[in-house]
Amino acid sequence: MFNQEVEKELKEKGFLEREIDASLDLFEEIEKLKKEKNAVILAHYYQEGDIQDIADFVGDSLALAQKAAKTEADIILFAGVEFMAETAKILSPDKKVLLPDLKAGCSLAESCPADEFAKFKADRPDHIVISYVNCSADVKALTDIVCTSTNAVQIIESLPKEQKIIFGPDRNLGAYLEKKTGREMAIWDGSCMVHEIFSLEKIITLKAQNPGSEIIAHPECEAELLDHSTFIGSTAALLRYSKSSDCDTFIVATESGILHQMAKESPNKTFIPAPPTNTCACNDCPHMRLNTLEKLYNCLKFEIPELTLDESLIENAKKPIIKMLEISERLGL
Ligand code: 13P
Ligand code: SF4
Repeated sequence: MFNQEVEKELKEKGFLEREIDASLDLFEEIEKLKKEKNAVILAHYYQEGDIQDIADFVGDSLALAQKAAKTEADIILFAGVEFMAETAKILSPDKKVLLPDLKAGCSLAESCPADEFAKFKADRPDHIVISYVNCSADVKALTDIVCTSTNAVQIIESLPKEQKIIFGPDRNLGAYLEKKTGREMAIWDGSCMVHEIFSLEKIITLKAQNPGSEIIAHPECEAELLDHSTFIGSTAALLRYSKSSDCDTFIVATESGILHQMAKESPNKTFIPAPPTNTCACNDCPHMRLNTLEKLYNCLKFEIPELTLDESLIENAKKPIIKMLEISERLGL
């Protein structure tokens, strides 16, 4: 959680505009700083390729939370967005957690303000609250069990059939989970700007132009697109599938950063980013892409911006995340 005062202070110090000596090899410099400071870089698959390559660990939301909970490092530099860095801080409150850009938020998390979610919950007192990890720490504090796209089905199925469930904040993932589990839920009406921008019409045309190709999609996409997909899964599951499948051409309906790992792991296969409705690069998440190698370098060198959270918020938001990690461990996820 960052406030305007922190941002003002950083601006006054010139930190946000600080230029870097162009002759520096940033890969080498970041490696040096990591060792010097006992820091670990955790990166999501939606980061640009260079950041994924310099990271100590690249993963999906669940794997990153699991790493953040177990790391021995003194500093966690989170190459991702705010809710991910918050989760790392909640799980490792004694570590210094850095996020290279103050503004790396998430449209999905923002679509669910905690005060409105609290009312939604108060109107349904007999429901259990399951929240997708893509939400603020305040929303997590209102939650019984957190989930990610890797473990959401199993977490829902771990509850008795008659248990009523509130699911938030993603309506597309919620609808997909209802279909998969056969459970009706009270679903918060939020969504991710990146996964809602894909053009089904263009994707179908692209598939016809690439005979034998498969559409693979993240469950944050809309139902019509999921209905046309051969495989649906979290970023880690999409990556695994693209490697193990006999198919050699994939139309990938999720943030385009994942194509970097897909191409690395299957260099002989073809990966085509699913086209959005307009001509811009809208399947690049504008929040995730605020992070750059330059900002990572400055962030590690000056150890700012640091993410901090109130102790009481950490306490309340931790319980539903720990429940998720325990269920995931039990199920070997
Ligand atoms: P996963 O990492 O669980 O696939 O979720 C993707 C996402 O939306 C991260 O913002
Ligand atoms: Fe949020 Fe969507 Fe960006 Fe993920 S891809 S961080 S859900 S806006």
